[in-house]
Amino acid sequence: MSASANSIAATILMLAAAGAARAETQVERGRYLVSIMDCGGCHTTGELGGHPEPGHTLAGAKIGWAIPGVGIVTPPNLTGDVATGLGNWTSDDIVKLLRTGVRPDGREIVGPMGWRAYAQMTDPDIRAVAAYLKSLPPVVHAVPGPTPIADFKGAYFTVAHP
Ligand code: HEC
Repeated sequence: MSASANSIAATILMLAAAGAARAETQVERGRYLVSIMDCGGCHTTGELGGHPEPGHTLAGAKIGWAIPGVGIVTPPNLTGDVATGLGNWTSDDIVKLLRTGVRPDGREIVGPMGWRAYAQMTDPDIRAVAAYLKSLPPVVHAVPGPTPIADFKGAYFTVAHP
């Protein structure tokens, strides 16, 4: 390699090292994890229908799932709104939900969310996910809790049993 090619290679190495050394914040780590685990695929308004609503990232779906014996469950609003989102949940509440499927009121969630897979996250990663959700600005969007099919107003997925 010529002297100038050597110095270009050295510069590239230095830049790569500088990039790697930049500390990622906990919230940035959480944003990354939430994006690759596709939480928004269910929890972003409109995303299940292929049309995510601007300004409604993780603000809750409008389409639910029919769960035998329970009714319709709809992916809730995960933003910081107190009345309609996770504003009253602590980071520990979110970690507990992701590790055990159990909400602060003691009910275990049902339906399509793969929390048993998310429960395998390392402690730093699961705490980063919670920190990111707690950083989301409040979006007011009420999502119904488990609802009897007859009372549900929107569209829902159902599983045809053979
Ligand atoms: C396949 C769809 C789906 C995906 C993907 C999904 N969720 Fe969910 N999630 C749901 C549904 C449906 C519920 C409500 C279930 C119930 O009420 O029994 C729920 C509930 C929750 C709750 C409880 C909120 C509340 O108000 O009760 C939290 C917190 C949550 N999800 C976080 C996440 C995170 C974080 C991810 C990504 C790591 C994720 N979810 C991915 C469908 C999904």
